[in-house]
Amino acid sequence: MTLVLNTLESGDYSEQIKALFAEKNEEIEIINTANLKIMHCMGCNNCWLKTPGICSIKDDYEIILKKLVSVENFWVVADTKFGFIDYRGKRVLDRIVPMLNMYIEIRDGWERHQLRYHPLNFGFIYKGDGNRELLKEWSMRVARNMAGRSLGVIALDKNETCEKVSESATAESAAWETAVPASAEHVIIINGSPRVKKNSNTNKIIDAFGEGLQQAGTTYDLYSLSNRSEWDRAREAFMTNNNIIIALPLFVECLPSLLQEFLSTLPTERRQPAKLSFILHGGFDEGHQLRLGEKFLQSLPAQLGCSCGGVLVKGGSFMLRNRENSYIKKMTDKMLASYATMGLSFAQNGNFMTPEAKKFTGPEKNPKIGVLLFNLVFKRIVKKNFDRIAQEWGCAEPLDSKPY
Ligand SMILES: Cc1cc2nc3c(=O)[nH]c(=O)nc-3n(C[C@H](O)[C@H](O)[C@H](O)COP(=O)(O)O)c2cc1C
Repeated sequence: MTLVLNTLESGDYSEQIKALFAEKNEEIEIINTANLKIMHCMGCNNCWLKTPGICSIKDDYEIILKKLVSVENFWVVADTKFGFIDYRGKRVLDRIVPMLNMYIEIRDGWERHQLRYHPLNFGFIYKGDGNRELLKEWSMRVARNMAGRSLGVIALDKNETCEKVSESATAESAAWETAVPASAEHVIIINGSPRVKKNSNTNKIIDAFGEGLQQAGTTYDLYSLSNRSEWDRAREAFMTNNNIIIALPLFVECLPSLLQEFLSTLPTERRQPAKLSFILHGGFDEGHQLRLGEKFLQSLPAQLGCSCGGVLVKGGSFMLRNRENSYIKKMTDKMLASYATMGLSFAQNGNFMTPEAKKFTGPEKNPKIGVLLFNLVFKRIVKKNFDRIAQEWGCAEPLDSKPY
């Protein structure tokens, strides 16, 4: 069976979408999410550690989850923004995490979460001016996370005008490249995580990075997008400062939908030059896991009228907020200290294009011996650790239970 989620808000594309599946000999259900109430994932982790498989946000997404457990093929139809799936489309994918469970295994060579149910194939249909190559790679990564295959990427139409706008934006931002001083005196940092500030790993990273900045005499202002009442001030700071860093966690292979929504509200033209840099981190250790997100981020500054200050990339951030265990604390202290060093480096160089920033990512892939040790020893230790955290969170069910 095939489920198609149509997240388009404007235009009636229903006949066109139906026609795409007309020749497929499958049972198909198309749901228009414009009629449903679906919020963004807040990254609370309850669906993994407190109420396994059940999302804490009580909205219409539960209807979709209940259908996903019995389908084989999952298609999302969405508009595009910045060449990528827009925030409405990304929102329905960020909410898919209850389909996986907390436990980690190595699947097709990479760290992955275990499936809660069965494999799911994934396909993407887009409207507007999408970066096809990026979307193809992203869809393939999403499918692999679900142990399925990519069903492909299909364009509903092609909007030529967007391409022209982004070309002129690129030319303007290149002309401004030299207008922003190399070393940084004051930086605006935006925390793009939807998780509340006190629980956010991104916030721990920013604190450590900020210590490094301050050592060099560089000051910074911080805005957290998880708090919508800070959005107006964050937007104002974004438009009136020349050195901006967005720090963000990887969410389903790219940006959290909440950050995408914020970026969509920014004015398209700037009145003064700015350099935009990124700190991108994610739960899994391997550098490779973050490369699609990095590729997308590198394309963003020009589309926002800024020059690009590079992307600092590092995995392994999942445990930063769970530091009660002394072994984990030692490990995470080391990681946070390395972010402080990068803060100092950014203050001196003004970007993440330095050799030390490139080296900061660490290994792209776990070495064979690491995979062997993980399967023989660490997998069980990691599992026990997650079971312990779940117990502390008051979880009453096994973490791999199937509620639907
Ligand atoms: C909805 C969701 C999707 C995620 N997707 C990925 C992913 O694709 N790859 C990855 O390495 N980590 C992924 N993570 C893990 C987060 O990037 C990681 O836990 C990060 O430390 C969270 O930072 P925060 O506490 O500031 O939100 C995901 C987490 C959530 C909640």
